[in-house]
Amino acid sequence: MQSRRALITGASSGIGRAFARQLALQGYSITGVARREDKLRELMGELPGDQHRYLVADLSHDAGVQSVTEALAQDRFHLLVNNAGYSVFEPFSQSELALQQNILNVNCAAVVTLAHAFLQQAQRGDALINLASVVSYLPTPAQPMYSASKAFVASLSECLWVEQKERGVYVMGLCPGVTATEFISTASGGAADGSNLPSAVTQSAEEVVAEALVALNKRRKAIVVTGRANRAMLWMPRLLSRHRLISILAVAGDPKRML
Ligand SMILES: NC(=O)c1ccc[n+]([C@@H]2O[C@H](COP(=O)([O-])OP(=O)(O)OC[C@H]3O[C@@H](n4cnc5c(N)ncnc54)[C@H](OP(=O)(O)O)[C@@H]3O)[C@@H](O)[C@H]2O)c1
Repeated sequence: MQSRRALITGASSGIGRAFARQLALQGYSITGVARREDKLRELMGELPGDQHRYLVADLSHDAGVQSVTEALAQDRFHLLVNNAGYSVFEPFSQSELALQQNILNVNCAAVVTLAHAFLQQAQRGDALINLASVVSYLPTPAQPMYSASKAFVASLSECLWVEQKERGVYVMGLCPGVTATEFISTASGGAADGSNLPSAVTQSAEEVVAEALVALNKRRKAIVVTGRANRAMLWMPRLLSRHRLISILAVAGDPKRML
């Protein structure tokens, strides 16, 4: 039997790496995408099964995105995990515009282009997972571009969930909350490593992916929020005024609490 094939962006660390491991255990052949070749090569060596590959690509540039769309067109993929993404803890108006735009390129533009390329070839039973976040619904003033980018991904995913349902292709917007990965280190420019994250609300990448794969099996929900604490927090937008919500999140989401 031909194995199922999954393409995972941002497979070199964190949630993407955990997706690669757990999907390989389920028999998928993995194509991992990221910029750090050493990390991708290391991952390929660890994965059970065969026919795994990697593709070095920078998704903030057109050339990098194009190399991945070409890979999606050349092979038959059953699953795309649009996972690559990042944030920076820098005040919007005081940081370089290019830095802020780069977040949009990776978190939104690349997601759109790759989702489109994947859905061109998708068949009944296939699936697309886009990494959104609880900040899609809980905008964090300390990370304006990141929050806005993830609201975009969640909205896009919900709409595509409806559009693709007819043809039997499942689309999921995956919303983890605080997850112990390299995310904090990247966002803080190395000033923090995430060791101060509140343990009561922090999940491991493996836990996030395990919940995502259960939901993938069920193919029911457009938006999958991982972790009980995160699901509880998503009552906030229903109970509070928008004004009150954003004021609370300005304090709760202050990066100084994680540094
Ligand atoms: N950690 C959290 O608390 C959290 C919560 C909710 C949602 N998420 C989302 O989950 C996804 C994965 O994040 P993570 O937590 O696993 O963080 P991570 O450990 O920092 O992983 C981010 C991945 O994205 C890749 N990446 C970043 N910029 C890229 C670029 N320009 N081109 C290609 N690949 C790029 C990185 O690979 P290279 O550096 O090798 O390129 C890395 O593999 C992101 O979309 C993030 O927004 C994270």
